[in-house]
Amino acid sequence: MRRLLFALAAALLALRPALATDPYAFFDRDVSYVTAAPLGVKQQTSVIGINGKFPGPVVNITTNWNVVVNVLNDLNEPLLITWNGIQHRKNCWQDGVLGTNCPIPSGWNWTYELQVKDQIGSFFYFPSTGLQRAAGGFDGIVVNNRDVIAVPFGRPDGDITILIGDWYSKNHTDLRKMLDKGKDLGMPDGVLINGKGPYRYNDSLVPAGIEHETFNVHPGRTYRIRVHNVGTSTSLNFRIQGHNMLLVETEGSYTTQQNYTNLDVHVSQSYSFLVTTDQNASSDYYVVASARQVNESLWRRVTGVAVLRYSNSGGPAAGPLPDPSQDQKDRSFSMNQARSVRWNLSAGAARPNPQGSFRYSSINVTQAYLLRGAAPAWIGGRRRAALNGLSFAPPETPLRLADAYGVEGV
Ligand SMILES: *[C@@H]1O[C@H](CO)[C@@H](O)[C@H](O)[C@H]1NC(C)=O
Ligand SMILES: *[C@@H]1O[C@H](CO)[C@@H](O)[C@H](O)[C@H]1NC(C)=O
Ligand SMILES: *[C@@H]1O[C@H](CO)[C@@H](O)[C@H](O)[C@H]1NC(C)=O
Ligand SMILES: *[C@@H]1O[C@H](CO)[C@@H](O)[C@H](O)[C@H]1NC(C)=O
Ligand SMILES: *[C@@H]1O[C@H](CO)[C@@H](O)[C@H](O)[C@H]1NC(C)=O
Ligand SMILES: *[C@@H]1O[C@H](CO)[C@@H](O)[C@H](O)[C@H]1NC(C)=O
Ligand SMILES: *[C@@H]1O[C@H](CO)[C@@H](O)[C@H](O)[C@H]1NC(C)=O
Ligand SMILES: *[C@@H]1O[C@H](CO)[C@@H](O)[C@H](O)[C@H]1NC(C)=O
Ligand SMILES: *[C@@H]1O[C@H](CO)[C@@H](O)[C@H](O)[C@H]1NC(C)=O
Repeated sequence: MRRLLFALAAALLALRPALATDPYAFFDRDVSYVTAAPLGVKQQTSVIGINGKFPGPVVNITTNWNVVVNVLNDLNEPLLITWNGIQHRKNCWQDGVLGTNCPIPSGWNWTYELQVKDQIGSFFYFPSTGLQRAAGGFDGIVVNNRDVIAVPFGRPDGDITILIGDWYSKNHTDLRKMLDKGKDLGMPDGVLINGKGPYRYNDSLVPAGIEHETFNVHPGRTYRIRVHNVGTSTSLNFRIQGHNMLLVETEGSYTTQQNYTNLDVHVSQSYSFLVTTDQNASSDYYVVASARQVNESLWRRVTGVAVLRYSNSGGPAAGPLPDPSQDQKDRSFSMNQARSVRWNLSAGAARPNPQGSFRYSSINVTQAYLLRGAAPAWIGGRRRAALNGLSFAPPETPLRLADAYGVEGV
């Protein structure tokens, strides 16, 4: 018996090299200021572009790939990119979060090495410090299933990444100063869709000369649409005029499939929908991202509007925008909607990883903490996000260095 096990183990070990050679994908990301005027020439600002583009290029990879990203910081200040939601199997020096990772000094480069072990789905990357994300530096991450793992729906005819987010015409250094003086950022100047301002659906609300996003599709097809709220502070209601959106995945987990006519996407959330182009194309259709949980009549001028254009479209979109949920009197609607999303446990996807999370239920609880997110707090005259009134300030000696070299008192 023992011998048999030995032989089996040896055979498995012999197989290992084949299993261990997960493919490598290499990316270069040069992060620099680009001049852009997403809300028209009067609102020109320093935007953070990637490889000269705003938004940057999508990172399109497959489960288990080793991803090597050489990031060059061409900004005039430190830069830390976080690969949101991506697990880091190699070590925790790669996740792009202050505390475990140091920012890349201006003019330097750093190579992140990640492995998207057992992961699938829709994520995005962004600069994680100094409010730089308010100026750009982001784009989507698509993690495709390996061919041997079934996707719980038919192969879509196209894959479209849509980044929605609030936008301020002040640049991030000016926004930072406002917070440091204890001021609120206030109402944003617009909501961008893929880095572009609103389609001019109403001449008095949207000034002329703004470039908008157009999604070109063919009739009778099904597209996978990945929607990410890359903004700073605004919850957005996302909808496509005349179309159902079948929710299939969120942040790396397949969901039970459910149709929505609109869905709230809170800051940093990612959802993917299947959208079937089953309408008569008598005109183009509006794609809308509008602010939620604010005075919507006051905030109407910041609504993000793009266009869905069928190849047989009868003409431009016109008329009023489709309505969001009519729930002004029900403040819990949005939270309940988010809570109603369910994991499809029979679909193949990432599973709790053997390094820890599957053991959580066997850990005895000895202490409990209540984290109260009553932001913002005024700390030393500055406006800061806080938990229990405490905010985070990076220590002079980075935590991981203190840990690695046994530096006390940090
Ligand atoms: C932001 O704008 C201010 C002027 O309002 C300017 O002094 C500053 O250099 C700008 N910052 C960047 C990063 O462009
Ligand atoms: C992403 O990669 C997959 C698999 O290699 C490919 O089928 C797909 O067309 C790519 N998608 C995009 C948007 O480039
Ligand atoms: C910086 O980029 C160069 C050229 O691409 C590369 O050879 C080097 O390894 C990179 N350095 C770091 C620390 O990533
Ligand atoms: C869940 O995934 C399974 C397996 O792929 C699929 O057959 C089923 O339709 C999905 N269920 C729902 C409710 O989406
Ligand atoms: C444009 O918006 C204004 C202000 O909300 C509204 O009064 C007007 O009716 C709208 N125009 C059209 C054509 O919908
Ligand atoms: C979603 O809506 C489409 C029509 O747009 C319909 O064909 C489909 O059956 C619906 N799916 C679910 C799960 O409700
Ligand atoms: C197309 O659909 C719209 C909305 O359902 C309807 O108002 C319109 O009459 C239809 N047009 C044609 C040519 O069928
Ligand atoms: C929203 O703002 C408008 C314009 O200032 C005001 O008339 C209205 O009362 C406000 N609505 C609410 C619910 O506060
Ligand atoms: C949890 O507590 C039980 C009962 O005291 C004990 O038997 C068990 O070993 C503890 N588990 C762990 C992981 O410490």
